[in-house]
Parts: sequence; C-alpha cells; structure tokens
Amino acid sequence: MPARIGIDDESLTPASGNPVPPGRFRSVAGMRVLVTGGAGFIGSQVVAALTAAGHEPVVFDALLPSVHPGRPVLPDAEFVCGDVRDAEAVAGALRGVGAVCHQAAMVGLGTDFGDAPGYVSCNDLGTAVLLAEMARAEVRRLVQAGSMVVYGEGRYTCAVHGVVRPGPRAVADLSAGRFEPRCPRCGAGLAPGLVSEDAPADPRNVYATTKLAQEHLAASWARATGGRAVSLRYHNVYGPGMPRDTPYAGVASFFRSALERGEAPRVFEDGGQRRDFVHVRDVARANAAALDSLGEGHTAYNVGSGEPHTVGEMATALAAAFGGPMPVVTGEYRLGDVRHITADSARLREELGWKPEVEFADGVAEFAFAPLRSPAGG
Ligand SMILES: NC(=O)c1ccc[n+]([C@@H]2O[C@H](COP(=O)([O-])OP(=O)(O)OC[C@H]3O[C@@H](n4cnc5c(N)ncnc54)[C@H](O)[C@@H]3O)[C@@H](O)[C@H]2O)c1
Ligand SMILES: [Zn+2]
Repeated sequence: MPARIGIDDESLTPASGNPVPPGRFRSVAGMRVLVTGGAGFIGSQVVAALTAAGHEPVVFDALLPSVHPGRPVLPDAEFVCGDVRDAEAVAGALRGVGAVCHQAAMVGLGTDFGDAPGYVSCNDLGTAVLLAEMARAEVRRLVQAGSMVVYGEGRYTCAVHGVVRPGPRAVADLSAGRFEPRCPRCGAGLAPGLVSEDAPADPRNVYATTKLAQEHLAASWARATGGRAVSLRYHNVYGPGMPRDTPYAGVASFFRSALERGEAPRVFEDGGQRRDFVHVRDVARANAAALDSLGEGHTAYNVGSGEPHTVGEMATALAAAFGGPMPVVTGEYRLGDVRHITADSARLREELGWKPEVEFADGVAEFAFAPLRSPAGG
C-alpha cells in the first residue's frame, strides 16, 4: 500500500490531535510507520501509541538474543525480523512506509571497552544504513530515540560563578561519602538545575557516544535529503515491560527486582541523586507527537516528566507500593554515575504540544506489580 504522506495543510487534523504550529509538518492518520526496535521495552509502547494515534506501525526488530532470550512478546502489529545494518532487509521493510521511528539500539553500558565495536556497529552503522536506505526510498520523516546520556552531567550553578561544568567525581570524594560535585573554580557547593537541549554534549562512555553520533547522522541526513528528523532525548524511562535487573537496566528495575525477592532495595550513595523518571507510555506518546509535527532539519528534544525525584524517593515510593521491605541506603557508589541529571522538557511541551500524563505516584504504583521482561538466561 503506498504511504499516505503528510502535507502542510492547516485543514488536516494531526493523527494525535496535538496542535501543530504553523510551518510544521502534519502527518495524516493512517500513515505506515516503520518502528525499528519495536519489540523492545520502549518500541512496543511506541507501536501502541502510534496505533492509538491512527497510524499503521510495522515492527522491524532483530530480536537480539541478549534482549529476547526466550519467545518474545511481540506488539500487536505487522512484524519484520531484520537487522537495521542489513540494507536489503531495511529496503524491503521501507516499501510503502511514510516515516520511520527508530528505537533499535544496543543499550546499557556494556561490560568493558571490548564492547565498543558492538555498540558502534549496532547503533551508528545501523543508523547510517537505515538513513541511506531511507534516502534511497525517499522516506523523509524520522523520529529517533536519543538519550540524556549525551549531556554527561546535569546542570549546576555556583552562587559566585554561575553555571559551571564539574568534571567526573573523584574516587577519594566518593569513598569519603562526598557525593555532591563541587564548583571547579572555587570548590563551593552547587545547586542542581534542569538541563536544556542547548547544554553542551559531553558523552562519557561508548554508549553515550553512539547516541550522540546517531543525532549527528540524522542531522546530516536531513541536510542532504531535505528530510525532517527529531531526536528524543529520553530521561530515565520506567514502566511495564522494563527489563529486569540486568547490568543494563535502570535503577527502578533493580529496586523492583529486589522487592520481588523479598529484599530491601539497596540505594547507593546517600539516595539524594536527582533524576527525571518518565513513564514509558508518556515517552511513546512523545514519539507520536513528534511524528505528527516534524519541523525542518533536525531538532533534539528532552523527554522528561519535568518533576525531579531522588533515587531514594523512587525506592521508598516503590517499596511502599509493593508493601515493603523499605529501602536501605548503603553509601555504595558506581564510578561514572552522574550525581544529578534532570530534564527541562519545555521545548517538547511548547513546540509539540506534548505533556506527560502519568503522575509519578500512579506510575510507581502500577510499576510495583507490572510485568517485567526477563533477562537473558533468566
Ligand atoms: N530505557 C531507557 O531508559 C532509555 C533511555 C534513553 C534512551 N533509550 C533509547 O531508547 C531506545 C529503546 O530502548 P529500550 O530501553 O526499549 O531497549 P530494548 O533493548 O528493550 O529494545 C531495543 C530493541 O531493539 C532491537 N535491536 C537492537 N539492535 C538492533 C538492530 N541492529 N537491528 C534491529 N533491531 C535491533 C532489540 O532486539 C530490542 O527489541 C534505544 O535507542 C535506547 O538507546 C532508552
Ligand atoms: Zn564557584
């Protein structure tokens, strides 16, 4: 079926019902959308959100054995098993497609630097092959999963020196329980704030580097082809279907798995690390909203709830919802963890008319008993 593509026509109603500012692209309900990584935690919810918005999602997923050790639970949509690095498979899947929602990636931090070629291959070569095939097939619309990891650290203000950029925390400080980063100029304490999209990129590991490179590739593709692209920099995504406590999983999943074992969630540092926990259904709706309102070129948007919570608060809320045991604060730390990182998602709200709908308390209460995805070997 040929794609029914969007046009800049004010009389059309965008599929998601979001208001579309003038000059932005509107898509037409019923567009066929290729969702790479559509069998994953976030991708499967994107499929549901696109369907709810009146689109026709097609899942394209390699079903990586590390992610899907058993029989995967596939979303209710057409499914193509393929790897984004396989040009022929991508070309075939792009037939009749009006837009791509690119979620496929190798996620997490890996175990050591030996994983670097795997991450670069999957995430960056994969994105390059996908974009080259989109250029060939004249598919001009892309929404892709970015990440807040491109920022490295959160935003901090010194009372004397204004906005400053503290480097990674020293082992000596962490071991002594000094968790808060200090002003690099005067050593004073800092006030954490919200990171906006124009903060300088500072990817501090291979995964973060590949997520930033994906954005640069999308921007190059948009310039070269006249395509329209959005990268959605997700913050800490949680919700049903989240992977269990693999080395790659988020902190909420660790806490939930501990509770299921009857153990107290172990909160690292002093529990005061601030994060933006955003619900997976809100992230999925952000994808649908972005698709319905693509501007020219490439734009990056933070996707966060806008309501910072500490890791300790998440543990306490989850334990309370689960019925205990209550968390313990251990003072342990992981080198490379960021102290605070919280998003300013104003741009997404203002330009795309998106806003989060799942309240923290409700999302956590649901997450306490929601089905999780089993890890490899689990
Ligand atoms: N989970 C988070 O908190 C979070 C935060 C920021 C960004 N992201 C990004 O969101 C996206 C989705 O992440 P997720 O948490 O749902 O991960 P996930 O592992 O649950 O899903 C990824 C899916 O992509 C598939 N895949 C991986 N490589 C592929 C390839 N080369 N070809 C085809 N399919 C491939 C996997 O089989 C899997 O189904 C990723 O791009 C990730 O970088 C996630
Ligand atoms: Zn200072």
